[in-house]
Amino acid sequence: MQYLVDTANLEAIRHCCKYYPITGVTTNPTIIAKENRDFRELICGIREIIGLKRALHVQTTAETAEDILAEATMLKSLVGGQFFIKIPITAEGLRAAAMCKENDIGVTMTAIFTQQQALIASVAGADYVAPYVNRLDNIVSDGVNVVSEIVDIFNIYKLPTKVLAASFKTVEQVHKCAMVGTHSITINPDLFESLIFHPLTNTAINSFSNDWEKVYGEQNVPELLK
Ligand code: G3P
Repeated sequence: MQYLVDTANLEAIRHCCKYYPITGVTTNPTIIAKENRDFRELICGIREIIGLKRALHVQTTAETAEDILAEATMLKSLVGGQFFIKIPITAEGLRAAAMCKENDIGVTMTAIFTQQQALIASVAGADYVAPYVNRLDNIVSDGVNVVSEIVDIFNIYKLPTKVLAASFKTVEQVHKCAMVGTHSITINPDLFESLIFHPLTNTAINSFSNDWEKVYGEQNVPELLK
């Protein structure tokens, strides 16, 4: 399982890199616009924080295959390292995916809502497909089922494309996607806090600490072993 963080907020990315085993950052135009700052500075700032080994997935704003390739080429040469251009699934997007792959640029096909969109994106050469779980749930569809069937269909045809499940609001959605074998998820920074939270964990930690203090007071292990 790969965990990625879905934000362009530099402070949040710094926090997530420090505390969680994240393998990358995903953005989209909404996420970028939310930061409301110089685009080049923002993208380079993200790369500086995450380093070259973590993946940076940046979404194109272009619509034709030629323009998408041009954007992807500029972005890749700007940020370097592990880079994936996020391309919404359209006919031009599929053509762009193949062109980007020919030019050795990683591709994440995004805004995926159906199994067949994912399958054709994979056949076109996408490295990742990003199905939107919560947005599917919001229209009384079943986001987890879509993820599950995409995982299955990739296995049936032995396709190397990975599922990068996106658009999460709850821990339950994350858990269910993990149980159906999604390869990766991208979540907002707050959801990381929820993923690791349990009140009984806090109770256990407090009780360990109280029991220790009853015998050893304020002394910690290094002090006791001096
Ligand atoms: O980046 C795409 C996806 O994560 C969107 O999430 O929360 O806007 O549905 P959301």
